[in-house]
Amino acid sequence: MTFHILGISGSLRKASFNTAALRAVGELLPEGVTFEIAEIGDLPLYNEDLRVNGSFPPEVQRLREQIAKADGLVFAVPEYNYSVSPAMKNAIDWASRAPNQVFDWKPYAMIGAATGLFGTVRAQMALRQILFGINAYPVNNPQVMIAGAAQKFDAEGKLTDQAARDLITQLIHALVKLAGKLKA
Ligand SMILES: Cc1cc2nc3c(=O)[nH]c(=O)nc-3n(C[C@H](O)[C@H](O)[C@H](O)COP(=O)(O)O)c2cc1C
Repeated sequence: MTFHILGISGSLRKASFNTAALRAVGELLPEGVTFEIAEIGDLPLYNEDLRVNGSFPPEVQRLREQIAKADGLVFAVPEYNYSVSPAMKNAIDWASRAPNQVFDWKPYAMIGAATGLFGTVRAQMALRQILFGINAYPVNNPQVMIAGAAQKFDAEGKLTDQAARDLITQLIHALVKLAGKLKA
């Protein structure tokens, strides 16, 4: 049996520390766990008028299907003005619409990287609040907040900080464990 994780990064820039941290998830998977990173940069800004006869734009439909089929989600959460980035909120807003609200009972974990001192603490709290409203279930521990990110990745964007890598490993195990408990 395999366990499939979908990663969603709130940063669209190529050299994003958050997307780089998400790539580290892919390097640290336990046996039997598969992983892919969703594209959210091509989603239109949320607009109800883009739903024709109830259908979603194709990019949105793709994301909704990826979330629906994932056994767990990992969000990489950049902090923009003490909250989540507009790209992340937009993706969540599209995916959260009925029918088949894809976040309902979905287990998820969060990681975050920031060049500043607080390592996305406030953005992660804001994301938790959003996902609470649509009944997704968080891994509470460990909390992965990579502060001073410029010192923790190499020039190719590989996460070199061993403490952060260890926390991500623990986080993935906790996500798989939570998903098992929610299924029981
Ligand atoms: C619009 C905007 C607002 C930001 N606000 C915050 C903030 O409130 N707190 C913080 O620690 N960093 C803030 N930053 C800095 C980002 O967290 C930092 O640039 C980080 O590297 C972005 O993530 P990324 O590397 O994955 O793109 C902000 C950056 C932008 C573009």
